[in-house]
Amino acid sequence: MKILKTTQSLQETLGSIQGLVGFVPTMGALHQGHLSLIQKSLEENPVLVVSIFVNPTQFDNPLDLEKYPRSLSNDLSLIKQIAPDALVFTPSVSEIYGNTVDAKEYAFEGLDRVMEGASRKGHFQGVATVVEQLLNLVKPDSAYFGEKDFQQLQIIKKMVAQRKYTTTIVGCPIKREPDGLAMSSRNQRLSSEQRLQAPLIFQALQEAKSLFQSQNTAAAHRHVEALFAAQSQLNLDYFSICSEENLMENQLDKPEKVRGFIAAQLGEIRLIDNLKF
Ligand code: PAJ
Repeated sequence: MKILKTTQSLQETLGSIQGLVGFVPTMGALHQGHLSLIQKSLEENPVLVVSIFVNPTQFDNPLDLEKYPRSLSNDLSLIKQIAPDALVFTPSVSEIYGNTVDAKEYAFEGLDRVMEGASRKGHFQGVATVVEQLLNLVKPDSAYFGEKDFQQLQIIKKMVAQRKYTTTIVGCPIKREPDGLAMSSRNQRLSSEQRLQAPLIFQALQEAKSLFQSQNTAAAHRHVEALFAAQSQLNLDYFSICSEENLMENQLDKPEKVRGFIAAQLGEIRLIDNLKF
């Protein structure tokens, strides 16, 4: 495994290596969800680049950025166990942004205005900026993203198509804890009491799916709202049933491309999840 801190060392190393390059961008605090993306890349490409970079421009809340879990040495040992030949890119903020730590502006045809985009101003402009910069540096054949952040995945696919990058964007299924909670670096900030409440999110999505299929959208919404109203710790930010293609709520005409999405606040922690309906 090689740890590369500068764009120069990354590019020199990549220049001396042959074969398809798979790329897994992360913000660290790695768990089995991240490792499943690494595994997928290893299956498809001889060369693996993992980036670990907590990207400041995608945080609209300075406290969230400050409290974001960081565990580089543990991350490196997790990567080494499954990918002993990985190239791990761990740049500083100035290595990625120079002196101007700003997001670029993108137009994503509304994909960035709903759900996470409505709740977290500028978030996806920051995500797209860093992913574009990383694609420029790594020039991967394929890049791997989790469906955990389904809206992010769709926005990155749109950015890659708009800017005509040749990298294939591969979406990977959500890894869950045994009780259904979607794995997330933020889960480690939950208290033990909050951790017991958190699986309600996935439970609500599953029950909403069955009501959506047996009845309709309104029945699914009523049920999710009642589930969240019946307890006091989890505050529902949104529940949305959308088209996977354009993330619009009123365009559900392709039943095979419908997905339910929830964001909820648990104390200081914001959790998101989604499920194919
Ligand atoms: P991060 O939250 O570290 O996630 C890195 C990748 O892991 C993302 O593609 C995310 O969707 C995926 N992932 C997270 N939890 C997962 C789970 N439970 N199952 C499957 N995949 C999961 O997403 C980001 O970082 C950043 O926005 C980034 C793309 C790196 C840009 O800064």
